Amino acid sequence: MTLWLKKIYLAVLEWIDYRTGVSDMIKDQLTEYRVPPKLNFWYSLGGLSLFIFGMQLVTGIFLLVYYVPSTDEAFESVQRIMVDIPYGWMIRSAHAAGSHSMIFVVILHMLSVLFMGSYKKPREITWLTGCALLFLTLGICFTGYLLPWSQLSFWATTVATNIPQPIPVAGPYIVRLIRGGETINPDTLNRFFALHVVVIPAVMLALAAAHMYLIRVLGISDPKKPDTDSGE
Ligand code: HEM
Repeated sequence: MTLWLKKIYLAVLEWIDYRTGVSDMIKDQLTEYRVPPKLNFWYSLGGLSLFIFGMQLVTGIFLLVYYVPSTDEAFESVQRIMVDIPYGWMIRSAHAAGSHSMIFVVILHMLSVLFMGSYKKPREITWLTGCALLFLTLGICFTGYLLPWSQLSFWATTVATNIPQPIPVAGPYIVRLIRGGETINPDTLNRFFALHVVVIPAVMLALAAAHMYLIRVLGISDPKKPDTDSGE
């Protein structure tokens, strides 16, 4: 880069920084953010869950460009993504692998928090928002499984949506509510699509923000004394 271009670049950066305070924020929240010494491997699993969630959002948006949410075209559109669209196979495989690994990592994160005792006072609400995130993670994977409208996704969803059936009185109503009818039908695909791409991701983003806020306010737990408030 020539010298004058570099000067303009630095002047623009300084101008933005002066008006937004972004470098102070990076210092406070990231580079000079203090955590207890000797944090172990298990403390990386929350961050890994967040990273996979971010990757799922990115790959999901790419898939949305070509996926068609209708019973006539869904299967064909997924085949097109796999065969005709450049790198479509890679994006779809990354999204599928991401969904499985997210469940695995989130459950491992929950177990580590449980066994290290970091859910204890004052982190009860962090734990509760985490529980909601786990259920939503399972929900987003469940609703996404139907979207390719293949034989496998159709029958797997038929079996899974039948689970509430034996609940006394309410069971059949719950099954009909989830399916939007007696069996899996085009309305099921529509509602699963809406839940998978709008409702669940939006609620998860809000809950993840609350989870992060609490972690920031209370501070990361100390592996030696988990039930302490190390926040400011
Ligand atoms: C999408 C799912 C989730 C994401 C993105 C996420 C993210 C995070 C991150 C980044 C941290 C800080 C680093 C760490 O301690 O690992 C954290 C901490 C924590 N998470 Fe999660 N989490 C998720 C699910 C859960 C679940 C299922 C639970 C429990 C039911 C949970 C309970 C907690 C608790 C109690 C802490 C505080 C740990 C401490 O201060 O040492 N989280 N989470």
